[in-house]
This record gives sequence, structure tokens and C-alpha cells, in this order.
Amino acid sequence: MSFLPRDVPSQPPRRLYAGRDVSRALTIAELRAMALARLPRFSAEYLEGGAEEELTLADNRRAFDDHVFAPRVLVSVDRRSKSRMIFGRPSALPIGSAPTGLNGLLWPGADAALARATAAAGIPFGQSTVSNALVADLAALPGVRHWFQLYVFGTDDIWETLVDNAHRAGSEVLLLTVDGAVMGNREWDIRNYARPLELTLSAKLDVLAHPRWLLDLWRAGYPRFSNLEPFVPAADRTFFGVSNWSKSSLRAALDWSFVDRLRRRWPGKLVIKGVQTVEDVLEARRHGADGVVLSNHGGRQLDRTTSPLRLIAPARAAVGKDYTLLVDSGFRRGTEIVMALALGADAVLLGRALLYGLAAGGERGAKRAIDILATEIDRTLALLGVDSVDELTPDVLRPAP
Ligand SMILES: Cc1cc2nc3c(=O)[nH]c(=O)nc-3n(C[C@H](O)[C@H](O)[C@H](O)COP(=O)(O)O)c2cc1C
Repeated sequence: MSFLPRDVPSQPPRRLYAGRDVSRALTIAELRAMALARLPRFSAEYLEGGAEEELTLADNRRAFDDHVFAPRVLVSVDRRSKSRMIFGRPSALPIGSAPTGLNGLLWPGADAALARATAAAGIPFGQSTVSNALVADLAALPGVRHWFQLYVFGTDDIWETLVDNAHRAGSEVLLLTVDGAVMGNREWDIRNYARPLELTLSAKLDVLAHPRWLLDLWRAGYPRFSNLEPFVPAADRTFFGVSNWSKSSLRAALDWSFVDRLRRRWPGKLVIKGVQTVEDVLEARRHGADGVVLSNHGGRQLDRTTSPLRLIAPARAAVGKDYTLLVDSGFRRGTEIVMALALGADAVLLGRALLYGLAAGGERGAKRAIDILATEIDRTLALLGVDSVDELTPDVLRPAP
């Protein structure tokens, strides 16, 4: 016989932390909830959205369920190392920030805040062509390991100037993004606009309902596309103007011969970002790229593709152990990062996971996101019976039952 009154639930109701102190967030999911509470709908949708039916977006999360861990016991794990050599230099963690554009919509001075957070953590920082800070300014921040991401717009002089500027600024890696011949069809994002440059009335009212975000924007002003403005007609050099210009100027005529040209011009490490087949991994290597990012752009470009997690093992088998394979799309937990490394990735790039922290609390929030993932990676290694990320192999995984 039960001594509990009938209406007492057997499980206490569970709630995420609902305050604003990022140090209280225990998970990336909690930072996400905090970010979504602060952001107006149009910028939250820009951050979150995937293309069309969002099936790729969903698969990026589901793919981790293909595997389970098979931990070994009674292995000493007291000297755990999370550091990883990436392109011949140590990274304190086997992660880096993925290049993301328009971060200024999430937090004032967002790109610099994120760059400083990555520098403090000793990991690479990816800066997008459509970022809101000058490449030279961010590459010069103390301790930043700067990687520049290239979108190819308009005429040759534009990419040549961007690439030369990145080299002069001391950028280590050039990431050529190749899954954006046209913009992905993110309909939920588009629905917030009545016309290309104008929010709907309802989206405007929603902005008013997010005064913390609005006040930050009002103080800092609309973010600018500092690296692109010189190439845009003077009348269009506004936030929405450049954003529109960039969408309509993407170069669709781009093939592997462009990689050859880029290879001749760029003296640093060259990485092709957005590769989704083994054939294209091999093609990238053949054209002189130093590595690839296996990526579906976080589900934002072509819908009905599969998670790049599933490509890691076949890609590693095809290129052998020495070619650099980075991966992104869908990573929100240390366990998931460890899984990708066990399958053969060198490192994982993080898009939204760090942006949630950034949008919840600027630099402190981004640092908190990195700390959460670092702690989770560390705990996962310990509980798996593996003392270093370099010792991870597919042996720690089994197909999910
Ligand atoms: C808000 C946002 C903006 C992005 N902007 C760019 C960009 O400018 N250039 C680029 O190569 N990739 C961009 N990406 C894709 C990321 O580099 C990365 O591939 C993706 O975020 C990985 O998925 P995840 O968000 O699930 O980690 C963007 C992603 C997001 C979420």
C-alpha cells in the first residue's frame, strides 16, 4: 500500500535553469534556452533554423544514436590529456569554433567576444567572410589562432583581396566553404521578412518584446560587414544591404580548378569545408588541400543529406591516418565529440553550441560553453577508460543495439 497521496507525481518535475547567470548553465541545452529567451524571433530563427523540412538538421542529432560506448574498466585514467595536434600545432582541446556569419545579431561585438573566448581556451577560431569584425582586428587579438573562411562573391579581385588580407593578418588556415553555391532555403527564417530587407510587423513587435536584446543593439548600433563593405556599392553599405548583396553575389560557377587557383595564391593551410562524400575528400586532397571539414553546414543548406558523423570512418579509411579530417554539424555534448574522434576525426568544429553561449552571455557565455564541453570530454574519457584523446579508436564504440 502506498503512503503517498495519489496526486504526488512519482518523478519530480524537471526544469532547466531559467536565470541569466551563464555560470549556472550545466549544459549546452541550458545555454540554448537562455539564448532563445534573450533573442527576438528573427535572430533566434537565423541561429537555429535548418533548410526546408529540417531533416538534415534532425539527422545531425540522430546520427549519434548509431553508436554506444563500450567502456573498459580498471584502466588508470589519472593523467587525462585532451590536447590535440591540429596542423602541427597543439590545440588545448580537440575542438575549434566553426566560422559563422552575422554573429553581431546575437551579441554586440560578438566576433571579438568569441575570438577571445577561444584564445583563452587555447583552441582555433574560425572567422566567416560575412562576420562583423575586420579580419586584421581579430587576428591581432592576443593568443587568437585565426582561421579565415572564404565565400566567393562576384569578381576575382574580391576573393583575391580577402585572401591576401587574411594572409597579411597572420591567418593560419583558409577554409573554403563549398556547400553554398546558393543560399539554403531556410523558410522559417524567410517568414520573418515582409520584403528582403524588411521585417514583418509581427517580427518587429516581437523585437519590442525582447528589450534586453534591443537595448544592446541600440547601444552598439547595427553590426557591419566590415570585410565586405569595400566591395559593395556605397548606397548598400548597411547591415541589410550588404547581407542582401552577399546573397545575390555568391558565385555559382565554382569548380575544382578554383581550388587550384586558391592553392597557388594562399601559402598557409588550405581546408575545404562542406564535403559530404568520400569521393570529394579524395578530390580535395588531389587538388592540394591540407584537409577537409566533413559538414552539411549544420543542416542549413541541402535538406535530406545525412550527418557527416557517418562519413568519418569511410573517409578515414580512404585517406589513411595522416590527412586532416575535421567534422562539424550537430555537436552539443562532449560524448558526441569523443565519438567523432573515436571514429577517426582529428577535431570537431562547433557552430551553434558556442553561439548559444555567445547569445546568452557574450564572451562569458562562449567561455562557459567551451568549459562545459571541456568538462564533458574529460569526464567521458575517464569513464571510458581512455587516458588521452590520442588513444581513442573505434574499439570504444559498438553499433547501437
Ligand atoms: C548562425 C550560423 C551562421 C553560419 N555562417 C556560416 C558562414 O558564414 N560560413 C560558413 O562556412 N559556415 C557557416 N555556418 C555553418 C557553420 O560553420 C557550421 O558548419 C555549422 O554551424 C555546424 O553545425 P552546428 O551549428 O550544428 O554545430 C553557420 C552556421 C550557423 C548556425
